[in-house]
Amino acid sequence: MTAGSRIVAMGHYQPSRVVTNDDLARIIDTNDAWIRDRVGIAERRIADAETVADMATFAAEKALAGSGLTAADIDMVVVATCSSEDRCPNVATRVAAKLGVAAPAAFDLNTACSGFSYALGTADHAIRAGATRNAIVIGVEKLSDLTDWTDRSTAVLFGDGAGAAVVSAVPEGQEPGVGPVLWGSVPDKGDVLRIEGWQPYIKQEGQIVFRWATTALAPLALQACERAGVRPEELAAFVPHQANTRIIDGIVKRLGLGPDVVIAKDLVESGNTSAASIPLALSKLVERREVPSGAPVLLFGFGGGLTYAGQVVRCP
Ligand SMILES: CC(C)(COP(=O)(O)OP(=O)(O)OC[C@H]1O[C@@H](n2cnc3c(N)ncnc32)[C@H](O)[C@@H]1OP(=O)(O)O)[C@@H](O)C(=O)NCCC(=O)NCCS
Repeated sequence: MTAGSRIVAMGHYQPSRVVTNDDLARIIDTNDAWIRDRVGIAERRIADAETVADMATFAAEKALAGSGLTAADIDMVVVATCSSEDRCPNVATRVAAKLGVAAPAAFDLNTACSGFSYALGTADHAIRAGATRNAIVIGVEKLSDLTDWTDRSTAVLFGDGAGAAVVSAVPEGQEPGVGPVLWGSVPDKGDVLRIEGWQPYIKQEGQIVFRWATTALAPLALQACERAGVRPEELAAFVPHQANTRIIDGIVKRLGLGPDVVIAKDLVESGNTSAASIPLALSKLVERREVPSGAPVLLFGFGGGLTYAGQVVRCP
C-alpha cells in the first residue's frame, strides 16, 4: 500500500496543421469576430494522417522521457477518449505496443471532456490499492473525424490533440500529489451533448450545456478543493476543461481564487479538444514553467453525458 500518487511528468502533442477562424469562414457562414466573442477560440489544430493512437503515443513518449522512467517501469496505460477510430482493440494497448510497454493493464475510458480527471482518479485509486506503481494517463481526441464541417454551430468549436501524464506511487512518508477526485454526472440530461450511432457527428444543445456549466460547476470544483484540504485562494493554477472562455470566466468568478492564480486558456490556440484539453493545457503550463513544481493546481473537466470530474494535483 502507498500513501497515494503524484504526477511525475507531463507531455503533449498537437498536429502541425493550424486552422484559423478565417479559414473556417471560407467554408461555412461564420466569422472571426463571432467565434472570438462567443467562444474565445482563435485557431485550432487539425490532424492529417495522425491517428488517435499516434497522437496519444507522441504525448506519452514526451511524458515518459521527462519522468526518468522507462517503458519497463510502466504497469498501467489508461486512455481517456471519445473519438477512437476502432471499437477494438482499445487505444491503450496500441499505445502500449508503440511505447514498448510489455504487459500493462491497458484500458480506455470514455466520459468525453471530463475524461482526463476520471482517468487520473482511476489510476490514483489503482496505485493506492497497490494494483499499480507507475501509470501513463492520457487524454486524446481526434474530434475532426466527428465534426460535421457544414454545421457552423459545432464546426468552430473543436480541435485535435493529446496530453499525457506519468503518475507514480508516492514514496512512504511523502505527501500525495493527486488529491481525491470529485466525480459525477447528470444522467437525465446526458443527451444534450452527443456523438450517436453510425453517422457520428457531434450534436449539442449548446445553450443548455452553457447554462449548466456556468451554474452547476463552480460549487463542485470547490468540493474538489475541500476534499484535498486546499482553500481556493491557495491554488497556484486552475486548469478547467477548455470549452469556452465565457464558461471559464463564469466559473472563475465564483471560485474565490487568489490574485496571482494562473488560469489556463489554451483553447484560444487549440480549440476544444475534449478529453485532451486538460492534460494539454497543464503540460504547456509545466513546459513554460508558469507554475512552480509542487504548487497546488485544480483540474476540472466537464462535458458529454454531463459528466464532470476534478481534483487538486501538485504541479510536476
Ligand atoms: C455553442 C455556443 C458558443 C453558442 O453560443 P450562443 O450564444 O448560445 O449562440 P446561439 O446558439 O444562441 O446562436 C446565436 C446566433 O449566432 C448564430 N451562430 C451560431 N453559430 C455561429 C457561428 N459559428 N458563426 C456565426 N454565427 C453563429 C446562430 O445562428 C444565432 O443566430 P440567430 O440569432 O440569427 O438565430 C454556446 O452555446 C456554448 O458555448 N455552449 C456551450 C457548448 C460547449 O462548450 N460544449 C462543450 C462542452 S464540453
